[in-house]
Order: sequence, then C-alpha cells, then structure tokens
Amino acid sequence: MMHDEPQVARDDVIKGTDDDAIISKLSAVNLGYLDDSFVKHFVKRPSRRPPLINRGSYIRTRSLDAFTEQFIKSNIPPEPTAATTTTTPHTSAIIQSSSTPTTKTTAISPIPAAGIKKQIVSLGCGSDTRYFKFKAKGLSALKYFEIDFPESTAKKAVVIKKNKAFTDIIGDPDLKLGMGGTELYSNDYCLLSGDLREFTESIVPKLKAHGFDTSLPTLFLSECVLIYIQPGDSDAIVNWVGTNMDASLFVVYEQINPADAFGAMMLRNLKARRIELPGIHAYPSLKSQEERFTSRGWQAAGAVNMNKLHESLSEQELKRISSLEIFDEVEEWQLLADHYCVAWAYQAKPQQSETYRAQLIQLLSNSVSS
Ligand SMILES: C[S@@+](CC[C@H](N)C(=O)[O-])C[C@H]1O[C@@H](n2cnc3c(N)ncnc32)[C@H](O)[C@@H]1O
Repeated sequence: MMHDEPQVARDDVIKGTDDDAIISKLSAVNLGYLDDSFVKHFVKRPSRRPPLINRGSYIRTRSLDAFTEQFIKSNIPPEPTAATTTTTPHTSAIIQSSSTPTTKTTAISPIPAAGIKKQIVSLGCGSDTRYFKFKAKGLSALKYFEIDFPESTAKKAVVIKKNKAFTDIIGDPDLKLGMGGTELYSNDYCLLSGDLREFTESIVPKLKAHGFDTSLPTLFLSECVLIYIQPGDSDAIVNWVGTNMDASLFVVYEQINPADAFGAMMLRNLKARRIELPGIHAYPSLKSQEERFTSRGWQAAGAVNMNKLHESLSEQELKRISSLEIFDEVEEWQLLADHYCVAWAYQAKPQQSETYRAQLIQLLSNSVSS
C-alpha cells in the first residue's frame, strides 16, 4: 500500500488482509491449536502455515477469546449488606428481574443477580467467527455488532445466510439481509457495512438504528484493524467510545516495535505486499498503547506482548500445543512475539448512583483480570 496509490487500491489491499488472517486461523484449527467449526466455511483454498504463524494465530485468538469470555460472563452479585439507595439505576442495562429496583425501592444493589445486559462491537470483523463460536457454547451478549467494508461484509453475509451451521446459531427466523446484501440483521447479531474512518458520522448512526445502546456495558474489539487506519481516524473512534459510552472495555490486538531491526524487517515485508501500518508509528510500544487510552481519560489500561501471553500458558496447555507439530524456531518466535501486543482499557462514566458506577467498574475490571 504505497502513498501514491489511489485510496481505493489501498483499501483493497487492506480488505485482503482478512484472507490471510482466516487462512492462518484455519491452519491453526486444522492442526488442533484452536477449536472452531465455523472457520472452514470462509476459506476456499486452505493452506498449512508454518509453526511460527500457527502459534501466533493461536495466541492471538486465545487471548481475545479470553477477554470476550470474561466480559460475557462477568457480573456483579448483589452486595450482602443492604445498601439503601433510592436512586434509579440504569434499568436498560439490567435484564428483566423481579428484583429490578426502581426509584421507590430500597435496593440491595442497583444490579440484580439476574445479570446485566451487554453488547459487543467487533470493528473490522473480517471473517471472524467469535459470535458463532461463543453462542454455540451458550455464551452470548444481548447484541453482537460486526462492522467491515461493504465488500467484506457482503462476502460474509452470503456465507452466513446460505449455511445452516450459521443460521441455526443465530436462531432468528426473521434474519434479514439488507443494504444490497452487505448487511445482516437478527435479534442478537448484526453485520453492518461501512468505513471505520467515518465512525462518528456514519457508523454510529447505523449502530443506533439497529439497537445499539450507549448505556449498556460494551466490549469493543479491534483485532488487527486500528493499525491500518490513520491515527487521527482511530483516535476519533477511541475518543467517541470514551466520551459517549456509559461503560466500555476496548481491546486492541496489533503490531508494535517498528524501530528495531526485526520491526524494520516486518514493515519492509509488509510494504513488499503493498501493506502499510500507519497506526504503528503513533502507538509503537506497550506504554504508548496504554497511553492511547489513559491520555483520553480512560480509567485503567494495560498492554502485554505476545511473549507474555505465551508465558502465561499453563504447563499442560504448553505441552498440548507442543505435541501438535515440531516447533524449534524458539528464538524467531520470541522476536516475532515481541512485536505483537494486546492492549485493553476500560472506562465508566459518573452515574446517578455512585454504587452503580462502582459496580460497572467492577464488572469491567473482572473482564480483564487474569
Ligand atoms: C487483518 S483483518 C482482521 C479481521 C478480523 N478482525 C480478524 O482478526 O480475524 C483487518 C480487517 O479490518 C478491516 N478494515 C480495515 N480498515 C477498515 C475500515 N476503514 N473500515 C472498515 N473495515 C476496515 C478490513 O477490511 C479487514 O477485514
């Protein structure tokens, strides 16, 4: 992706990065690193990737899955010691429960044990299958929104719509195609088309038109996406989320360390495929990845590289993946893994009730605790 290329050609290259990601994911699935029966439907020509790439796909998917699972599962039990409050909780955030408090209620806690409604937004979803994989395991949020360029969502919509493996999981007889076949709408899953560089003016209104609720705790996922967007545009997304959502968790997976020898080689290799990473120079380190959020008022942020994530595998899991194929590129792995990171941040706005805000923060912090 060279600067003198027209924008359309540059965008085509970026859309193509999804093909690479999904072929690599299928390679990791076929070898037994990952368990995902949906990925194969998005790959026409499967190809076995080298062990280094398989391990990378495994760590990447596993770590974003872990955040997603913890977010879906995280909840706040009512405090045993009754906190008498007459404030109105954000009832839209609370699943129907007989104990849902009202202004007149002496509530034990603004959030009942029954649970709290949550949303997930996958920015630049490509062919990602996380919604299907989790729902198949009985884990789902109130709404799961996916966004990508129309050409990418059109391809995804066709695969989903014509395949019972997907429509059964969606489980909505009113599942509909829209916007010339580039979008899908159902009760809890929406595939939306658009350009993330126009987030505030075009993506947000579209999300809202399909039931997106800024008062609900929401997980925003960017798996190898913001890095392809100019920092001004990706900052606009982080700013909008931080300013407009009552409670949100943002998880980013992307490359770092462009300046050392390996980083420079990584950029040269990508450039040879016409791919540039404008975001890497704005957020080149773990520290700057955290500051991308904390400098914009987010309450907590963290970032770890892929080596750290790899080290945190249990002995048993390490033994399991080591048995899948010969892996002797340990030094190359460590270098590669030093150049990819997961960063996360959360924020919750002041609420009518301080107790409710504390609970939201607790919920978000539970989602990121290891
Ligand atoms: C490397 S792929 C990652 C796909 C998916 N997140 C995953 O990890 O499997 C990057 C995706 O981001 C999408 N993307 C990049 N820039 C975008 C933009 N400005 N608007 C919408 N989608 C974008 C691309 O079309 C592509 O599907």
